[in-house]
Amino acid sequence: MNNIILCGFMGSGKTTVGKRLATLTGRVFVDMDAEIEQRAGKSISEIFARDGEPAFRQLEQEVCLDLARRSGLVIATGGGALLSPANREALAASGIIVLLQISPETVMDRLERDTTRPLLAGENKEDRIRQLLAQRLPVYQAAAHLVVDGEQAPDAVARQIAKQIANQTSAPREG
Ligand code: S3P
Repeated sequence: MNNIILCGFMGSGKTTVGKRLATLTGRVFVDMDAEIEQRAGKSISEIFARDGEPAFRQLEQEVCLDLARRSGLVIATGGGALLSPANREALAASGIIVLLQISPETVMDRLERDTTRPLLAGENKEDRIRQLLAQRLPVYQAAAHLVVDGEQAPDAVARQIAKQIANQTSAPREG
């Protein structure tokens, strides 16, 4: 299938880049977190607070598997979605997984005042970011078919992805 799946840490720009990329490539943009909130009828923070993280992950998996069955999409995943092997497998089968790679410093800059990420709530936000990013980066990297520098402006990131995907799909296949 021909979806483009954006993955990466919280604050890596998946939603902003995804919207632009959808316009550039003539696909429909879908934000996994927004889809989860819509199905649950409450915000991500409320789901974590009232139902707990396992309930959130369950909902995330349902949404993920449903989206992976569709085509013509740019999907912005949540930062933890690829931690599930079932999600990784379904998304890999549904299109190209692109990692927006960013440094912990950039995450901190972008999310310093953010209050919508329950995993970064509380004291020592910077330590949490460093710890989680170190755990997750190898998982993102192993799952990604393409890695781009997410430190650039969103327009530049979207253009770079569109170009690389166009090159990949127009290149003659070996063998
Ligand atoms: C999460 C990332 C969030 C959201 C939830 C959990 C994570 O999405 O799904 O707060 O585990 O990294 P964004 O990456 O869009 O912030």
